[in-house]
Amino acid sequence: MKKKWWHDKVAYQIYPKSFFDTNQDGIGDLRGITEKLDYLKNLGIDIIWISPVYQSPFVDQGYDISDYYAIDPAFGTMEDMDRLIAEAKKRDMYIVMDLVVNHCSSQHEWFRKAVEDPHGKYGNYFYIKEGKDGNPPCNWRSYFGGSVWEKLPGHDNLYYLHLFAKEQPDLNWENPELRQEIYKMIRWWLEKGIAGFRLDAIINIKKDLRFQSFPEDREDGLSSFTCELEQAEGIHEFLQEMKEEAFAPYNAFTIGELFDYRPEELEQYIGDDGCFESIFDFSTHLLGSDPRGWYAFTPVTPEEYKKAVFDSKHRTWKTGFMANIIENHDEPRGVSHYIREEDLNEISKKMLAGITMMQYGLPFLYQGQEIGMSNTVFSSIDEVDDISTIDEYRNAREQGLSEAEALKAVAGQSRDNARTPVQWDASENAGFTSAVPWRKVNPNYKEINVAEQEGRPGSVLEFYKELIRLRKNPVYQEAVVYGEEIPFRESEENLMAFYRKGREKTLLVLANWQRESRTVEIPLEFDRVLVNNTAENTEIENGKVFMSSYQFLILEKE
Ligand code: GLC
Ligand code: CA
Repeated sequence: MKKKWWHDKVAYQIYPKSFFDTNQDGIGDLRGITEKLDYLKNLGIDIIWISPVYQSPFVDQGYDISDYYAIDPAFGTMEDMDRLIAEAKKRDMYIVMDLVVNHCSSQHEWFRKAVEDPHGKYGNYFYIKEGKDGNPPCNWRSYFGGSVWEKLPGHDNLYYLHLFAKEQPDLNWENPELRQEIYKMIRWWLEKGIAGFRLDAIINIKKDLRFQSFPEDREDGLSSFTCELEQAEGIHEFLQEMKEEAFAPYNAFTIGELFDYRPEELEQYIGDDGCFESIFDFSTHLLGSDPRGWYAFTPVTPEEYKKAVFDSKHRTWKTGFMANIIENHDEPRGVSHYIREEDLNEISKKMLAGITMMQYGLPFLYQGQEIGMSNTVFSSIDEVDDISTIDEYRNAREQGLSEAEALKAVAGQSRDNARTPVQWDASENAGFTSAVPWRKVNPNYKEINVAEQEGRPGSVLEFYKELIRLRKNPVYQEAVVYGEEIPFRESEENLMAFYRKGREKTLLVLANWQRESRTVEIPLEFDRVLVNNTAENTEIENGKVFMSSYQFLILEKE
């Protein structure tokens, strides 16, 4: 595997609406990001991915873009964007934008023109098909519920395809003209000096053009289209073309959001000649999910987590460098998702921090993760904004759950958990805004906030800083970045332990993922504690280390 400039870096995702509001309208903005660059620099962040800030009607919170060349006024102006890029550069930081090109917004000029003249130039920018006997062309269910086909306004038997919301029409990648429009836009942004892109829903750009129906799998009479993803062939031609025409000339950093890729194609995605630099490792995020819907989710156990991570690292480590996350704007908060509620405290949060930061790959934090922000509370479905949660709630109700049960069942999975404002301090609205915030602040902000944790020994924030410093420390860097990840005592329940075996240094990482303490037998030579998530003075004697509840340790040889 070729070494890349970004391998030893640390990345951070910003969900701009909820990051920091500078003009007091209750919505986070670009200036808010610029103002907090020093905070991020101080944390040790190098690469910043910003979720969409383009012009949008916000049906799916900016993932429905109506103009790729404009900043939505909610976030500021293009000058604000230019300034952010320049200020980041001054600090040796890299800005990564979100590239949403599987679909655009139904408000985009292209789509409006397609509606006017479906058989003209712009009609061919989308998938517009005739219905069959008064029904849509096939029975696929969209990601956000309902059919993927919607009637083209004003045309009786014409439907357009949308894998996500009906306000997010899919772009027709088979059309070379459309592809050139996209590459032009990518180059335009790279010219501005951004470092690259995170590629949204990119696996979906290739469709199986037969648009076949599959056996229905829920009571709505529709079928999940994962079967079609398995059948669609030829995505690599699109991706290679995009790489050559748009990314390679700028040496852009690219990171794909890919859930359903075929493992045997990993090399084509992130191998030395792959189309992307990296992809997110979602192996633990798929755990516990159920085809029936969110309401049937089963909590993830430490054993499942461990197995998923080790399998994934084993499968991928020779091929490429994946990005490691515990959460993002589409997931619940990692600490709430992976740690039992009754065990959630600073120690257990720091244990999870240690596990994710010490994985082989690029650590990718999500805003608020560094202070251990946790899931929020919803008192009714009316408090939910996320289109996906609303659909899953409806699904749960249809399955016979009461309002309270359905809310409880979907709350834990809701994308809104990650979308509450960042908790900067204990003042009103957590210091995010002095106006009414667009999303309610998590009520726990008085205890959990940046100001309280900054400089306090033992805080989650200071622990993240310590782990980031370790990654950047020349003595340990090679082991932390490139060291092979070798499971240790894998069969010991609720112990997640592994070596990071570098060329010169080897580290032993131990996490006691349970409330009960335990004694772990370790090789005699690992007798020095390098990192400890507790204030206890951990002794190692005769190859034995006593670990308290949720303790996390990194050991080295003296
Ligand atoms: C990706 C985004 C998600 C969005 C979807 C459609 O999964 O992360 O937020 O809803 O794509 O663009
Ligand atoms: Ca604002």
